[in-house]
Amino acid sequence: MSSSTETAHPLPPTILVIFGGGGDLTWRKLTPALFDLYLDHSMPDQFAAIVVDRVELSAEKLHKRLHDGVAKFSRQGKPAADQWKPFAERFSYLAGDFKDAQTYTQLKKQIEAVEGQWQCQAQRVFYMATPPAMFNVIPERIAAAKLASDVARSRLVVEKPIGSDLASAQSLNRYLAGSFDESQLFRIDHYLGKETVQNILAFRFANPQFEPIWDRRYVDHVAITVAEQVGVEHRGGYYEHAGAVRDMVQNHLMQLLCLVAMEPMVSFDADELRNKKVDVLHAIRPIPHASVHDFAVRGQYGEGWIEGKQVCAYCEEPDVAKHSNTPTFAALKLFIDNWRWQDVPFYLRTGKRLMQQVSEISIQFRPVPHQAFPAQAALDWRPARLTISIQPVEGIVLTFQAKHPGRTMHLWPVEMRFNYRQAFDVPSPDAYETLLWDVMAGDGTLFMRADQIEAAWTAVMPILDVWSASAPTDFPNYHAGTWGPQAAAGLLAHSGHTWQEPASPTDA
Ligand code: BG6
Repeated sequence: MSSSTETAHPLPPTILVIFGGGGDLTWRKLTPALFDLYLDHSMPDQFAAIVVDRVELSAEKLHKRLHDGVAKFSRQGKPAADQWKPFAERFSYLAGDFKDAQTYTQLKKQIEAVEGQWQCQAQRVFYMATPPAMFNVIPERIAAAKLASDVARSRLVVEKPIGSDLASAQSLNRYLAGSFDESQLFRIDHYLGKETVQNILAFRFANPQFEPIWDRRYVDHVAITVAEQVGVEHRGGYYEHAGAVRDMVQNHLMQLLCLVAMEPMVSFDADELRNKKVDVLHAIRPIPHASVHDFAVRGQYGEGWIEGKQVCAYCEEPDVAKHSNTPTFAALKLFIDNWRWQDVPFYLRTGKRLMQQVSEISIQFRPVPHQAFPAQAALDWRPARLTISIQPVEGIVLTFQAKHPGRTMHLWPVEMRFNYRQAFDVPSPDAYETLLWDVMAGDGTLFMRADQIEAAWTAVMPILDVWSASAPTDFPNYHAGTWGPQAAAGLLAHSGHTWQEPASPTDA
């Protein structure tokens, strides 16, 4: 998230090393994003990628695989041959075991060969697109081979999951700190790369009119929904050990919470912004283990219907245990103990195989302090609400009361809408484009610091502890294609609240 324009600072010569580059992430996300940056003239003039993986693969086969991914996932469609060829030529392949020191000796030779050709020292970006078990292996080997000793010019990108609980995250962070300086570490949460997520900062802090009412005096409650229609797809093996809290809440939903609840930053400095976010996490009221059931609801999908198609239950998915206890849905009630938010409930929910794909943040305002209108005028009154739509619709909707046309005073809820597609004539870049560009520019603003990750784990640990100690008795407890288990409604009903229907089902 550069605060300056991209063209003002061309990126320095860069060598990107992708460990596990033969895998899904590189195919589906990284190469399409790099290719889109390339088409937008946002790549360094001198750029080379070395894909490292265990299997033997010819450069030709690598290029074909990457081409397939780009054709399928690039936002700019199938690549034209004359554009693809010069881009693909920058990708070379190195077969090697990530544990074997020999791989790194070979890698060093390849890096130095490229630098020799360019006659300069390039910056080096090491990207771990590998299973998490390798996060504890690769960094040490890179450091031992002295591939990243130039601190200012070498970076390590770590994908989630960063640990599977507080203790493992702390241990991974300690391990990473053994080989890399914190300034070299770029821990990815791809939600932070989404335009609409970055826009929360612009919306809150570049406009004077919302911030004065952005607190407990005016806000009744906040609800954050990240709903997916997809199931676990081919990731059952991973998901069985993760579940909804580890997969989505500890990272993506917590990031959204931080951006909505944080104090204004003093400058656009990466650490200033991250400090403000971490303050929010530290202020989350700890959930006592004995009261977890009052603050969190879990669910798992059974069979059901999604858009007219019958879909199977979670426990029928490939690589999932028949009697799995893994939650595919989680809803939480959190409080932030500070002056701004004391006693304002923040509801978070996420789930797979829900009715609709929608990510949005709904800020519901308190009623006016005194209702001066006659009772019959307010029969259709609805609370004023601001909805920040993250995806698939990208925009902001403000719902408020207006006078319905007619001779009598009749209040009627109406909407003001901002829609990205209508307002801007340019497509939003994919989150990975933004994040990869930022890594190459050395801007850590949109990346997670060690302390932030640990604070987010701390907040969810009581839930994980209690849920793992007491097996659910009612799974599956929601049908695919619904909004999740009944109990999720109960979580809000205690305070007289309800989950809102998404404010933005269409992109009209
Ligand atoms: C990933 C999770 O981090 O985010 C997936 O592991 C999830 O389970 C995905 O589907 C959602 O991302 P997006 O960008 O599609 O909302």
